[in-house]
Amino acid sequence: MPSEDRIQQHRRYLMCRPDHFTVSYEINPWMDRARPPDTAKALRQWQVLHDTYVRLGHRVDLIDPIPGLDDMVYTANSGLVIDGVALGARFSVSERRGEERPFRQWFAAHGYGVVEPVAMQEGEGDLMLAGQIILAGYGFRTQLDSHAEVARVFGREVVSLRLVNPFYYHLDTALCVLDPVEGPGGVERANIAYLPSAFDERAQSELLERFPDAIRLPPSVPESLGLNAVSDGRNVVMSPAATHFADQLRERGYHTVPVDLSELHLGGGGIKCCTLELRGGRS
Ligand code: ARG
Repeated sequence: MPSEDRIQQHRRYLMCRPDHFTVSYEINPWMDRARPPDTAKALRQWQVLHDTYVRLGHRVDLIDPIPGLDDMVYTANSGLVIDGVALGARFSVSERRGEERPFRQWFAAHGYGVVEPVAMQEGEGDLMLAGQIILAGYGFRTQLDSHAEVARVFGREVVSLRLVNPFYYHLDTALCVLDPVEGPGGVERANIAYLPSAFDERAQSELLERFPDAIRLPPSVPESLGLNAVSDGRNVVMSPAATHFADQLRERGYHTVPVDLSELHLGGGGIKCCTLELRGGRS
């Protein structure tokens, strides 16, 4: 399909400047206190990502960074926002619990209906809207029993997928939603890309059955955090290191937009982790 046929959707994102980004604890295998990031460089790279979204015509909202919350830049983990309803996150790692309240306050102050979660889940890091359904990771951070709560809150089918590789500890490190697919009855499903080896066998069969046309990346080219990309249906903002994934995307008519967040990778997050999608709500 030529790129002219891929349709860009206007998106609204929530981001947080990495003013206080550092690695003072280790909660995933990418983090190493002995190799702290260069905060000024992280800020410059983050600014390019921010400006890229704006240039593509998207709206970007900002939440103020708070000293001592090293990981606040990874806004995707703060909740899941659909149709003006924000289900806040409940972090499984104590190091990030301090982020819960400021994000909930931001959502409420900006007109979102905030739902306090009961079970542990780490927002859009593990809960991804794919067409009408929600794909939900578990195994490292998000607990399986949160999936029923997510289904109830949003009134949508939730498909549970177990993650098995500690380097791909959040669903958004192993799977990317590219665009919704319209059918005769409106949005019916989604195009996705993923790394099958990051999932258990059951999840692999589930994904294969539901998404027969997906881009599947071979285990030999995991292209660290390459799948942690953001698509608006046409433009895929992604790591320049993920060359195999980029080729696959271009073959299918997407326009790839490289943005290097190498410094943020030291905290175990990339482009998608720094981007929370805000769906619905007042503008
Ligand atoms: N250091 C952060 C953590 O371990 C990175 C979060 C990455 N975010 C994401 N959406 N995958 O929680």
